[in-house]
Amino acid sequence: MNEQTEQDTAMNVLEPHEWRHRTIVAGTEWKNPVGTASGTFQLDACGDYYDVSQMGAICTKGVAPVPWEGNPGPRTAESPSGMVNSVGLQNPGVDHYLVDELPRLKKLGATVITNVAGHSDEDYAQVVAKLADSQADMLEINVSCPNVSHGGMSVGTDPVALSRLIKHLRALTSKPMIVKLSPNVTDIVEVAHAAVDAGADALSLINTLVGMRIDINTGKPILANRTGGVSGPAIFPIALSFVWRVRQAIPGIPIIGIGGIDSGEKALEYLYAGANAVEVGAAALVDPTAPMRVARELDDLLDSRPDLAAKLAKGQTW
Ligand SMILES: Cc1cc2nc3c(=O)[nH]c(=O)nc-3n(C[C@H](O)[C@H](O)[C@H](O)COP(=O)(O)O)c2cc1C
Repeated sequence: MNEQTEQDTAMNVLEPHEWRHRTIVAGTEWKNPVGTASGTFQLDACGDYYDVSQMGAICTKGVAPVPWEGNPGPRTAESPSGMVNSVGLQNPGVDHYLVDELPRLKKLGATVITNVAGHSDEDYAQVVAKLADSQADMLEINVSCPNVSHGGMSVGTDPVALSRLIKHLRALTSKPMIVKLSPNVTDIVEVAHAAVDAGADALSLINTLVGMRIDINTGKPILANRTGGVSGPAIFPIALSFVWRVRQAIPGIPIIGIGGIDSGEKALEYLYAGANAVEVGAAALVDPTAPMRVARELDDLLDSRPDLAAKLAKGQTW
């Protein structure tokens, strides 16, 4: 058991009140177990709605070595209980991120997870090397985006390519490294093992599932990219089962559960499934206050049910 895993296990021996206001994920302290999910938080937009420093952690949009324009529009479509997106990792690049977004987030006092994007191993390496001495608290390696033609999901669905990449990145940084897994695989446990064996300190799951919508008036796909990633309440039970399967297979690894969370109750289900923390994504695009609301609802729920809080504080229930 490595040092960070020991600290995460220690989370479970803190008093119920203590761990949820001091949640440790791979050695990094979060103010509560609820963070924002990559690509669905923007400081300028969300900062007006709640005190972002009070979130467990803020996970940024994917950061690439150079500015990326993303995919052509339309880039989003509604779907039953959710949405499909093919934004394609639009971002202003790591140099801009380092002088603009990251200092502003740190000045506010937020725990920051920088989501790292790349089209090739070298792209990811360049970003990680530039972040190695930065103020970022954790790095989340996005090997699971379905909306880019190279890198992204093509790495995260191939255990051999994933292992090679994570070993390479591990040598470049001592920052806690989260690997964000794709659900678009036959065996998530095989991919999770590959990431952990190569040096991941934590896993986050899941990214979006591949999906599409067709405009029945034209008979053509709504998204310019044709397919995109499905997220929102529709994927909640699927994502929950992925978290549960990985937790059963790898008891010691810190897990961040993501997918369809829009209430404290759903966040609690993830904790029961074995997640140490969660991130709120598409719900924030419907209600910008959703991440903070989910954190409060979870806290209230645990307040009103000390038996649940005590169970979780002692360890997982399975
Ligand atoms: C518009 C949009 C943009 C996203 N961009 C990223 C990204 O840059 N990097 C990443 O790892 N995940 C990205 N995601 C995936 C989310 O972080 C999350 O894993 C997924 O949406 C599932 O959670 P949800 O159902 O709560 O939305 C994006 C999702 C959406 C909806």
